[in-house]
Amino acid sequence: MKVLVVGGGGREHALVWKISGSPLVQKIYCAPGNGGIAALAECVPLKATDVEGMVEFSKKNRIDLVVVAPDDPLAAGMVDALEAQGIRAFGPRRNAAMIEGSKAFAKGLMRKYGVPTASYEVFDSSEEAIQYLKGRNYPIAVKADGLALGKGVVIADSFEQACGAVKTIMDDRVFGSAGDKVVIEEFLTGQEVSILAFTDGKTIVPMVSSQDHKRVFDNDQGPNTGGMGTFSPSRIYSREIHEYCMENIFTPTIDAMSREGRKFKGVLYFGLILTEEGPKVLEYNARFGDPETQVVLPRLKNDIVEIFNAVIDERLHEIDIKWDDNAAVCVVMASGGYPVEYATGYEIEGIDEAEREPGVLVFHAGTRLSDGKFYTAGGRVLGVTALENTLDAAIKKAYGAVGKIHFKDVHFRKDIGIK
Ligand code: AMP
Ligand code: GLY
Repeated sequence: MKVLVVGGGGREHALVWKISGSPLVQKIYCAPGNGGIAALAECVPLKATDVEGMVEFSKKNRIDLVVVAPDDPLAAGMVDALEAQGIRAFGPRRNAAMIEGSKAFAKGLMRKYGVPTASYEVFDSSEEAIQYLKGRNYPIAVKADGLALGKGVVIADSFEQACGAVKTIMDDRVFGSAGDKVVIEEFLTGQEVSILAFTDGKTIVPMVSSQDHKRVFDNDQGPNTGGMGTFSPSRIYSREIHEYCMENIFTPTIDAMSREGRKFKGVLYFGLILTEEGPKVLEYNARFGDPETQVVLPRLKNDIVEIFNAVIDERLHEIDIKWDDNAAVCVVMASGGYPVEYATGYEIEGIDEAEREPGVLVFHAGTRLSDGKFYTAGGRVLGVTALENTLDAAIKKAYGAVGKIHFKDVHFRKDIGIK
């Protein structure tokens, strides 16, 4: 088979790495890919959001399977466009990707079908939103409805701050049409767990649990990022909690999507918060998480291409998905200043040495390859994953590997996996 992976970050590197282990696959392309992916796949200079370009490329090169990884091409209907040309694609269609593309839609779905989540209201005018904010309890969560690169959520500690967030989203339109509506929701407290699940719309098979670290600095300080590190499994996601989620969250969600005429096929990501009242959904993503993928896929025993095929053909129930009974930790090495302002173009040293240690995988997120050397090319630069028998051993191994890699102004959290 010839496989095309759409995207070019750490998640896509982990996907390409896993796909490259499939005996079904002869050739992998990745668009646009990155410096590290280039060792395993032919990188194609197409933007991940270029729907027409991706369809043309797939037709011309007779691609057997396209894996659409990022949120924006899914929301733009890339899977629909590929399927319309008879090209097999893994990922939800546009009408199902809306579960991530519109928070108002996702909240409405949960309310209608009784999936536990924070109570909320939706507004399409800033005046009404601000009227509602008067006399509320704080903190409160203010969210842009649409896709905003993970930056559309503000946890406001006061009325003034919440009003500021509403105005930034709706009046200044910093996220464009993603800010046509805002969702204002109850603030929940608890630990967050990410559950990614394969689903063909009928069967849902959750992957092993993981936890992300969204804030840029240690002890969850500083602004939100795309994710500074992950570990798997979660220490707090017990069998009982899993059974509760299966019955009250996972299965009801895919059934709800089918009943709404939006059958979800692909990976559905449940961003859960474990509150005193039980697990609740903070958000859905219509795709693999980044950097969750970098700790989950290395633990998957199956040929992932067989799973992708089973999802597309709606026979996921036939596959026995198995996981290694180990632990994985991924530490993100970022450019100093990320997620605000940062420089790129610095030479990266020590990747080979770090990878020499068994059980260490260096996934590239923002790198460029030039004359055999790697250079920084983004905010998140590398995700250094380590596998070990226990989480504590994996943490130690991951930081040992991180210590061998150098580039100017590197920033990483020192507390990944500790919580
Ligand atoms: P989201 O993109 O909706 O997952 O929000 C990003 C992050 O904001 C989450 O991972 C949480 O840390 C935080 N967050 C979102 N909604 C809430 C809420 N209702 N209560 C507390 N924290 C929240
Ligand atoms: N790690 C969070 C996300 O992929 O959205």
